[in-house]
Amino acid sequence: MIPRIAIIGAGPCGLAQLRAFQSAAAKGAVMPHLVCYEKQADWGGMWNYTWRTGLDEHGEPVHGSMYRYLWSNGPKECLEFADYTFDEHFGRPMGSYPPREVLWDYIQGRVEKAGVRQYIQFNTTVRGVTFDEASGTFAVTVHSYDQDLTHTEQFDYVVVASGHFSTPNVPYFDGFERFAGRVLHAHDFRDALEFKGKDVLIVGASYSAEDIGSQCYKYGARSITSCYRSAPMGYKWPENWEEKPLLTHVQGSTAYFADGSSKPVDAIILCTGYKHHFPFLSEELRLKTGNRLWPLNLYKGVFWEPNPKLIYLGMQDQWYSFNMFDAQAWYARDVILGRIELPDEAAMHAENQAWREEELSLKNAQEMFEFQGKYIQTLIDATDYPSFDIAAVNQTFLEWKHDKYDDIMGYRNKCHRSLMTGTMAVPHHTTWLEALDDSLEAYLADEPQTAIKAVG
Ligand SMILES: Cc1cc2nc3c(=O)[nH]c(=O)nc-3n(C[C@H](O)[C@H](O)[C@H](O)COP(=O)(O)OP(=O)(O)OC[C@H]3O[C@@H](n4cnc5c(N)ncnc54)[C@H](O)[C@@H]3O)c2cc1C
Ligand SMILES: NC(=O)c1ccc[n+]([C@@H]2O[C@H](COP(=O)([O-])OP(=O)(O)OC[C@H]3O[C@@H](n4cnc5c(N)ncnc54)[C@H](OP(=O)(O)O)[C@@H]3O)[C@@H](O)[C@H]2O)c1
Repeated sequence: MIPRIAIIGAGPCGLAQLRAFQSAAAKGAVMPHLVCYEKQADWGGMWNYTWRTGLDEHGEPVHGSMYRYLWSNGPKECLEFADYTFDEHFGRPMGSYPPREVLWDYIQGRVEKAGVRQYIQFNTTVRGVTFDEASGTFAVTVHSYDQDLTHTEQFDYVVVASGHFSTPNVPYFDGFERFAGRVLHAHDFRDALEFKGKDVLIVGASYSAEDIGSQCYKYGARSITSCYRSAPMGYKWPENWEEKPLLTHVQGSTAYFADGSSKPVDAIILCTGYKHHFPFLSEELRLKTGNRLWPLNLYKGVFWEPNPKLIYLGMQDQWYSFNMFDAQAWYARDVILGRIELPDEAAMHAENQAWREEELSLKNAQEMFEFQGKYIQTLIDATDYPSFDIAAVNQTFLEWKHDKYDDIMGYRNKCHRSLMTGTMAVPHHTTWLEALDDSLEAYLADEPQTAIKAVG
């Protein structure tokens, strides 16, 4: 019997799943019945930029958390697809940290080539997923915005590829309701120019804090103050950027910190992370986890242990991204196609627990990306996903970390070598701090394009 598979989301994970099946079919395997539901009008997930914040045009929460002028924060050589390289897509070397639109173009190139758009129902949101023990099938209820119709279909497998950086984690600090300026979460940040000439307070000490603060610096904020709960980011910040311990409260437009200091600020940006949020899943199917390297109850990081016909992709915190999603999708495909057999629940649980214990023993960033690399290796060793040099990717991550500590505003000017093709990146024509136009057109031009699009 040809299995029926629902894929929720057409971001990098959902597209990896479609590509995995298409690649097997191209080698003679039977194509299952695939339906990918995507609530947005186009594919690419987070990389499909939206100017909207709050609710979208259909009254649903806006998915996108990316903002204007966002550039890759890790080397593109660490996320490269093993089956579709940057060389193949762009036909020429480029910098190691392209802007969002360039990466979106790359993501699209692979799936256009694979011809999988036909499997996606756009403008269609998944509202409910339940499992029926008697029939062994899932009932997936979707709402098509175009027809304004809700209907339910049965599937043998459900792949949850809806991402986990869209539902903001929004802490409260005393005095917020009377703060004299603007308070927003990173999810709603869109354009750093809004903060030109302003004193900005960033709460949080991870990637969003570092990058949104850097955007504000680059586009002319007067000062940046960032504050941390656990540990400072510790980079060599520019003169007008100060790191402080956590905010305790605000009074009027003055922010007070745990060390007793205070500072007047115009705006507060909460870079406090996101929640894994699956309102469409029934209780017994719902993953509950923080943003970490080894969420529990997912065998091989993907199969829902109590019911492995439910598959989650990309739910880990991400050092690796696109090629990890591929490794997961290829593995999930081979289980569905009957090429890999799953062990019983007890064995799955024991293996899962061992990974969690190892995760808990990790002491620093290097051990963390090596852990994730080891995990990916176990997946790709089991399938025909093209193998690649994970030790070398880890080494590139290490260089990237050092580059950031050397020069947080300059690390994106560094070049790395592709671990898929051996091609060395070439410096972008403009340094990151000076490159104000992040369009694909400006990025691919051989020299700075003064005439193209003024920023703002
Ligand atoms: C600000 C920001 C910057 C980032 N920068 C980088 C970077 O530089 N490099 C990097 O590698 N990674 C980066 N990431 C991580 C990024 O999330 C991943 O690269 C990637 O997008 C994850 O893919 P995904 O498919 O899991 O999720 P997403 O890209 O979030 O895609 C999920 C898709 O599911 C759809 N969906 C959600 N709910 C439903 C529903 N109920 N019904 C139907 N469809 C639904 C969404 O519309 C979306 O299209 C960044 C993330 C953020 C938030
Ligand atoms: N391309 C880019 O440049 C770019 C830009 C932004 C984001 N991203 C990506 O987006 C993803 C999410 O990154 P993220 O930084 O938003 O989330 P994150 O990595 O999960 O970090 C969340 C941060 O919020 C802090 N925090 C949470 N609750 C808090 C509270 N109550 N009070 C104070 N601090 C609190 C955490 O502090 P603790 O350490 O104390 O837990 C942590 O520093 C990552 O994959 C990242 O790579 C990429």
